[in-house]
Amino acid sequence: MNFKEELSKRTEEIEGIIKNYLPAETDFQKTVMEAMNYSVLAGGKRLRPMMMQETYRMFGGEGKVVEPFMAAIEMIHTYSLVHDDLPAMDNDEYRRGKKTTHAVYGEAMGILAGDALLNFAFETAVGAFDLEMDAKVGRALQILARKAGIYGMIGGQVVDVESEGQPISNEKLDFIYRLKTSALIESSMMIGAVLAGADGGEIQKMEQVARDVGLAFQIQDDILDVTSTLEVLGKPIHSDDKNQKTTYVTLKGLEQSKKDVAMISERALGTLISLEKNNLFLEELIRMLITREK
Ligand code: IPE
Ligand code: IPE
Ligand code: MG
Ligand code: MG
Ligand code: MG
Repeated sequence: MNFKEELSKRTEEIEGIIKNYLPAETDFQKTVMEAMNYSVLAGGKRLRPMMMQETYRMFGGEGKVVEPFMAAIEMIHTYSLVHDDLPAMDNDEYRRGKKTTHAVYGEAMGILAGDALLNFAFETAVGAFDLEMDAKVGRALQILARKAGIYGMIGGQVVDVESEGQPISNEKLDFIYRLKTSALIESSMMIGAVLAGADGGEIQKMEQVARDVGLAFQIQDDILDVTSTLEVLGKPIHSDDKNQKTTYVTLKGLEQSKKDVAMISERALGTLISLEKNNLFLEELIRMLITREK
């Protein structure tokens, strides 16, 4: 397998799936649709839909029922970024190599475009019932809702903003990362597993894999905030310092952080391989993320 080729092939396929589900820009409210499409189509690595699809395939899934969920998780992820960048939050001007949504469309439309993406994500995901009238779809919707909400991504963002300018414990930082970043990755892998008919134990293991992938991913994000450039990253560096965030890097230092990204990713791979399901692409993807530069 040529990983790089496979990665761009799959990214392109996912791009097509996402586009299928984006709203037409019509009627008096079309500005919000333009802002939604602007933020989703700005690019992005599409890792969450990719992990969902790969997990689905790993457990033998072959149908199209996963596709509305792939689009939905990318909409929720994008909304989380649009709101994360708002002046009241991280106050950042660039995202995915372009001006942030609020910088282009104004703050009110940034808020509304985020709200709209979150709602449209569920509108889209519920459409999976039109493809398969199955209880698995209901279970997947439950996971999508819970992992995005107060017990997931939003919960993590709450503690993240409340902790600005304060020293925080390792335990609290772990809590923030598990929620603000791991939760949507857990959602992706768990939904892929559920829709493919995986059993309870397998779904739980995928949650564990995703938790570690998310932790490593956020630590690497913190590292890149210090070591990268706007041009490579597509978003401003030193955003964490600007907002007086305690990060993994400020707590443990750069070198230890790099080691921990590798260690936690290896732990994720160990759990994944213990399932004996074999998805070499997913394994390579997790390995690639250890050294990602964007
Ligand atoms: C950025 O996520 C937000 C974090 C959780 C660190 P990604 O790095 O996956 O962003 P895109 O989707 O590629 O822009
Ligand atoms: C973001 O954490 C996690 C989200 C849920 C959006 P960051 O604030 O570090 O993400 P970036 O660096 O802006 O992408
Ligand atoms: Mg933030
Ligand atoms: Mg941010
Ligand atoms: Mg960051």
